Amino acid sequence: MVKRAAPSRVPHRLRHEVKGVLLSEAQIAARVRALARQITRDFASREMVVVALLNGTVMFLADLIRHIPLPMRLDFIGVSSYGAGTQSRALEFTKALRLDVRGRDVLLVDDILDTGKTMSAVLAKLRRLNPRRIKVCVLLDKKARRTERVQAHYVGFEIPDEFVVGYGLDFAERYRNLPFIAVLHPAMHAAPNP
Ligand code: PRP
Repeated sequence: MVKRAAPSRVPHRLRHEVKGVLLSEAQIAARVRALARQITRDFASREMVVVALLNGTVMFLADLIRHIPLPMRLDFIGVSSYGAGTQSRALEFTKALRLDVRGRDVLLVDDILDTGKTMSAVLAKLRRLNPRRIKVCVLLDKKARRTERVQAHYVGFEIPDEFVVGYGLDFAERYRNLPFIAVLHPAMHAAPNP
């Protein structure tokens, strides 16, 4: 479990929106490199297909794959819990996979495993395409909120049950560009019209 960093590290302009920095840029960078090393060892024998889930995975994916020096092909699945807010709702698929993964070694990458509904639905879809194996990699694992029987093979950080933003993760499509991961002020996501 991650310890909270000093709130003083939150940039001044965000002090009313963000409660504290949970994971700094340096912590994330070190952990992503370690994950990449582990994945490189595990996937070294065959060309891999990396399947990433849009949109939250963009920063994590970009940092992760540039540290995996293996032949790979990359594709995306667009999937989103419908609407803004903190509750996982109905899933909407916005982009289909185009690469053929039949008989392939697939690394499925997402930013956060929360209830597990997204990952569970995507895994069901992918399994129907008959890949040789699927390994799941997530930067963040919020185990306390899990409702589905799904787990990741590679996890960057286990985090507490708080609403986190930054490094690709959003609240109402904002904050994805923060280079660190921060905890949003509860008042922000309680607001009726963010
Ligand atoms: C977020 C996140 C995961 C999913 C995790 O995606 O990127 O894919 O929720 O939640 P779950 O485990 O409860 O399903 P979101 O639907 O917010 O879309 P985004 O990636 O575009 O932010």
